[in-house]
Amino acid sequence: MLEASNLHLVDGPLARNKLKVLRDEGTRTPEFRQAMKELSLIMVAEATRTMPTKAVHVRTPLAETEIEEISGPVCLVPVLRAGLGMLEGALALLPEATVGFMGLQRDEETAEPIEYYVNLPRGLGDYLVLVLDPMLATGGSLSATLSKLKEYGARWISCLHAVAAKPGVERVTGEHPDVTFYTAALDPELDENAFIVPGLGDAGDRLYGTL
Ligand code: PRP
Repeated sequence: MLEASNLHLVDGPLARNKLKVLRDEGTRTPEFRQAMKELSLIMVAEATRTMPTKAVHVRTPLAETEIEEISGPVCLVPVLRAGLGMLEGALALLPEATVGFMGLQRDEETAEPIEYYVNLPRGLGDYLVLVLDPMLATGGSLSATLSKLKEYGARWISCLHAVAAKPGVERVTGEHPDVTFYTAALDPELDENAFIVPGLGDAGDRLYGTL
Protein backbone atom coordinates (compact mmCIF):
# COMPACT_ATOMS: atom_id res chain seq x y z
CA MET A 1 0.00 0.00 0.00
CA LEU A 2 1.48 3.38 -0.99
CA GLU A 3 1.11 6.17 1.53
CA ALA A 4 1.91 9.13 -0.72
CA SER A 5 0.45 10.15 -4.06
CA ASN A 6 3.87 11.33 -5.27
CA LEU A 7 5.31 7.79 -4.94
CA HIS A 8 5.05 5.33 -7.84
CA LEU A 9 5.87 1.65 -7.57
CA VAL A 10 7.38 0.29 -10.80
CA ASP A 11 6.77 -3.39 -10.19
CA GLY A 12 5.85 -5.05 -13.47
CA PRO A 13 7.22 -8.53 -14.21
CA LEU A 14 10.35 -7.20 -15.95
CA ALA A 15 11.25 -4.85 -13.09
CA ARG A 16 10.64 -7.62 -10.54
CA ASN A 17 12.88 -9.93 -12.54
CA LYS A 18 15.77 -7.43 -12.51
CA LEU A 19 15.19 -6.82 -8.81
CA LYS A 20 15.44 -10.54 -8.13
CA VAL A 21 18.95 -10.54 -9.62
CA LEU A 22 19.90 -7.45 -7.59
CA ARG A 23 18.58 -8.81 -4.30
CA ASP A 24 20.25 -12.22 -4.64
CA GLU A 25 23.45 -12.26 -2.54
CA GLY A 26 24.91 -14.78 -5.00
CA THR A 27 24.84 -12.30 -7.91
CA ARG A 28 28.38 -11.30 -8.87
CA THR A 29 29.46 -7.78 -9.74
CA PRO A 30 29.23 -8.03 -13.58
CA GLU A 31 25.67 -9.44 -13.46
CA PHE A 32 24.69 -7.00 -10.70
CA ARG A 33 25.88 -4.07 -12.82
CA GLN A 34 24.03 -5.39 -15.88
CA ALA A 35 20.76 -5.89 -13.96
CA MET A 36 21.05 -2.36 -12.51
CA LYS A 37 21.51 -0.96 -16.02
CA GLU A 38 18.49 -2.89 -17.32
CA LEU A 39 16.31 -1.83 -14.38
CA SER A 40 17.33 1.78 -15.09
CA LEU A 41 15.92 1.51 -18.61
CA ILE A 42 12.57 0.41 -17.19
CA MET A 43 12.59 3.14 -14.53
CA VAL A 44 13.48 5.89 -17.03
CA ALA A 45 10.71 4.75 -19.38
CA GLU A 46 8.20 5.10 -16.51
CA ALA A 47 9.54 8.40 -15.18
CA THR A 48 9.40 10.10 -18.58
CA ARG A 49 5.78 9.22 -19.34
CA THR A 50 4.67 12.78 -18.55
CA MET A 51 7.44 14.53 -20.49
CA PRO A 52 6.33 17.24 -22.89
CA THR A 53 6.23 16.25 -26.53
CA LYS A 54 5.64 18.01 -29.81
CA ALA A 55 3.94 16.70 -32.92
CA VAL A 56 6.16 16.01 -35.92
CA HIS A 57 5.49 14.43 -39.28
CA VAL A 58 7.30 11.35 -40.57
CA ARG A 59 6.93 9.42 -43.76
CA THR A 60 6.64 5.66 -43.27
CA PRO A 61 7.26 3.40 -46.30
CA LEU A 62 3.47 3.62 -46.86
CA ALA A 63 2.24 7.06 -45.86
CA GLU A 64 2.88 10.32 -44.05
CA THR A 65 1.82 10.30 -40.39
CA GLU A 66 2.00 12.48 -37.29
CA ILE A 67 3.92 11.32 -34.25
CA GLU A 68 5.02 12.75 -30.89
CA GLU A 69 8.65 13.67 -30.33
CA ILE A 70 10.21 14.45 -26.92
CA SER A 71 10.70 18.18 -26.38
CA GLY A 72 12.42 19.92 -23.50
CA PRO A 73 15.77 19.32 -21.81
CA VAL A 74 16.54 16.58 -19.30
CA CYS A 75 19.25 16.59 -16.63
CA LEU A 76 20.34 13.27 -15.12
CA VAL A 77 21.82 13.51 -11.63
CA PRO A 78 23.47 10.32 -10.35
CA VAL A 79 24.19 10.38 -6.62
CA LEU A 80 27.77 9.06 -6.32
CA ARG A 81 28.79 6.36 -6.22
CA ALA A 82 25.88 3.97 -6.55
CA GLY A 83 23.85 6.29 -8.82
CA LEU A 84 26.52 5.86 -11.50
CA GLY A 85 25.23 2.32 -11.90
CA MET A 86 22.01 3.77 -13.32
CA LEU A 87 23.61 6.39 -15.57
CA GLU A 88 24.53 4.26 -18.58
CA GLY A 89 21.00 2.87 -18.90
CA ALA A 90 19.46 6.33 -18.52
CA LEU A 91 21.79 7.80 -21.16
CA ALA A 92 20.98 4.96 -23.55
CA LEU A 93 17.37 6.20 -23.63
CA LEU A 94 18.15 9.91 -23.23
CA PRO A 95 21.44 10.42 -25.11
CA GLU A 96 20.94 14.20 -25.32
CA ALA A 97 20.57 14.59 -21.56
CA THR A 98 22.82 16.89 -19.54
CA VAL A 99 24.51 15.14 -16.58
CA GLY A 100 25.10 16.71 -13.17
CA PHE A 101 26.78 14.98 -10.21
CA MET A 102 26.08 14.86 -6.48
CA GLY A 103 28.84 13.30 -4.37
CA LEU A 104 27.52 12.13 -1.01
CA GLN A 105 28.85 9.53 1.39
CA ARG A 106 26.87 8.33 4.38
CA ASP A 107 28.81 8.54 7.64
CA GLU A 108 29.06 4.92 8.83
CA GLU A 109 28.42 5.90 12.48
CA THR A 110 25.63 8.45 12.17
CA ALA A 111 24.19 7.57 8.70
CA GLU A 112 24.18 11.33 7.98
CA PRO A 113 25.23 12.30 4.42
CA ILE A 114 28.55 14.08 3.93
CA GLU A 115 28.81 16.14 0.73
CA TYR A 116 32.15 15.78 -1.06
CA TYR A 117 31.45 16.82 -4.67
CA VAL A 118 28.81 18.87 -6.45
CA ASN A 119 28.84 19.59 -10.17
CA LEU A 120 25.41 20.71 -11.38
CA PRO A 121 24.41 22.95 -14.27
CA ARG A 122 22.93 26.34 -13.30
CA GLY A 123 19.41 27.26 -14.37
CA LEU A 124 17.84 23.86 -13.82
CA GLY A 125 14.37 25.45 -13.91
CA ASP A 126 13.75 24.48 -17.52
CA TYR A 127 14.85 20.87 -17.08
CA LEU A 128 13.17 17.66 -16.15
CA VAL A 129 15.67 16.55 -13.51
CA LEU A 130 15.99 12.79 -12.95
CA VAL A 131 17.85 11.85 -9.76
CA LEU A 132 19.46 8.40 -9.99
CA ASP A 133 20.21 6.47 -6.79
CA PRO A 134 19.51 2.74 -6.36
CA MET A 135 18.96 3.08 -2.59
CA LEU A 136 16.65 5.29 -0.55
CA ALA A 137 17.24 4.28 3.09
CA THR A 138 16.85 6.97 5.77
CA GLY A 139 16.26 9.56 3.03
CA GLY A 140 19.13 11.75 4.32
CA SER A 141 21.14 11.62 1.08
CA LEU A 142 18.11 12.24 -1.10
CA SER A 143 16.84 15.07 1.06
CA ALA A 144 20.26 16.79 0.83
CA THR A 145 20.30 16.20 -2.96
CA LEU A 146 16.82 17.66 -3.44
CA SER A 147 17.62 20.76 -1.38
CA LYS A 148 20.77 21.32 -3.46
CA LEU A 149 18.91 20.84 -6.75
CA LYS A 150 16.31 23.39 -5.69
CA GLU A 151 19.14 25.85 -4.85
CA TYR A 152 20.21 25.41 -8.48
CA GLY A 153 16.70 26.29 -9.65
CA ALA A 154 15.21 22.83 -10.24
CA ARG A 155 11.40 22.81 -10.14
CA TRP A 156 10.51 19.58 -11.89
CA ILE A 157 12.26 16.63 -10.27
CA SER A 158 11.72 12.87 -10.33
CA CYS A 159 13.80 10.39 -8.32
CA LEU A 160 14.50 6.84 -9.51
CA HIS A 161 15.35 4.05 -7.08
CA ALA A 162 15.71 0.27 -7.18
CA VAL A 163 14.74 -0.14 -3.53
CA ALA A 164 13.24 2.38 -1.11
CA ALA A 165 12.60 1.87 2.60
CA LYS A 166 9.36 3.07 4.14
CA PRO A 167 10.97 5.35 6.76
CA GLY A 168 12.97 7.18 4.09
CA VAL A 169 10.01 7.36 1.75
CA GLU A 170 7.86 8.90 4.48
CA ARG A 171 10.54 11.50 5.11
CA VAL A 172 11.18 12.59 1.51
CA THR A 173 7.60 12.44 0.25
CA GLY A 174 6.61 14.60 3.21
CA GLU A 175 9.49 17.08 2.91
CA HIS A 176 9.21 17.30 -0.88
CA PRO A 177 5.56 16.95 -1.95
CA ASP A 178 6.47 18.67 -5.24
CA VAL A 179 8.87 15.84 -6.23
CA THR A 180 7.88 12.50 -7.80
CA PHE A 181 9.47 9.26 -6.63
CA TYR A 182 9.72 6.00 -8.57
CA THR A 183 10.92 2.78 -6.97
CA ALA A 184 10.93 -0.85 -8.03
CA ALA A 185 10.39 -1.97 -4.43
CA LEU A 186 9.13 -0.52 -1.18
CA ASP A 187 10.84 -2.37 1.68
CA PRO A 188 9.45 -2.28 5.21
CA GLU A 189 12.34 -1.30 7.42
CA LEU A 190 15.94 -0.39 8.22
CA ASP A 191 18.29 -2.38 10.46
CA GLU A 192 20.38 -0.92 13.32
CA ASN A 193 23.00 0.24 10.76
CA ALA A 194 20.36 2.00 8.65
CA PHE A 195 20.59 -0.66 5.91
CA ILE A 196 17.39 -1.48 4.02
CA VAL A 197 15.80 -4.83 5.00
CA PRO A 198 15.48 -7.03 3.00
CA GLY A 199 17.11 -4.61 0.52
CA LEU A 200 20.01 -5.68 -1.66
CA GLY A 201 23.04 -4.87 0.50
CA ASP A 202 25.35 -1.95 -0.30
CA ALA A 203 24.66 -1.07 -3.93
CA GLY A 204 27.89 0.94 -4.36
CA ASP A 205 30.04 -1.90 -3.06
CA ARG A 206 28.22 -4.51 -5.17
CA LEU A 207 28.48 -2.38 -8.33
CA TYR A 208 32.17 -1.68 -7.94
CA GLY A 209 33.45 -4.84 -6.24
CA THR A 210 34.52 -3.13 -3.00
CA LEU A 211 32.84 -5.56 -0.64
C1 PRP B 1 24.07 4.81 -0.26
C2 PRP B 1 23.04 4.90 -1.36
C3 PRP B 1 22.40 6.24 -1.11
C4 PRP B 1 22.43 6.36 0.39
C5 PRP B 1 21.09 5.98 0.94
O1 PRP B 1 25.22 5.46 -0.61
O2 PRP B 1 23.57 4.77 -2.64
O3 PRP B 1 23.09 7.32 -1.73
O4 PRP B 1 23.43 5.44 0.86
O5 PRP B 1 21.06 6.14 2.32
P1 PRP B 1 20.20 7.24 3.05
O6 PRP B 1 18.85 7.26 2.42
O7 PRP B 1 20.15 6.74 4.47
O8 PRP B 1 20.90 8.56 2.96
P2 PRP B 1 26.57 5.44 0.28
O9 PRP B 1 26.59 6.57 1.26
O10 PRP B 1 26.75 4.07 0.86
O11 PRP B 1 27.70 5.78 -0.76
P3 PRP B 1 28.19 4.98 -2.07
O12 PRP B 1 27.10 5.10 -3.09
O13 PRP B 1 29.43 5.74 -2.45
O14 PRP B 1 28.47 3.56 -1.70
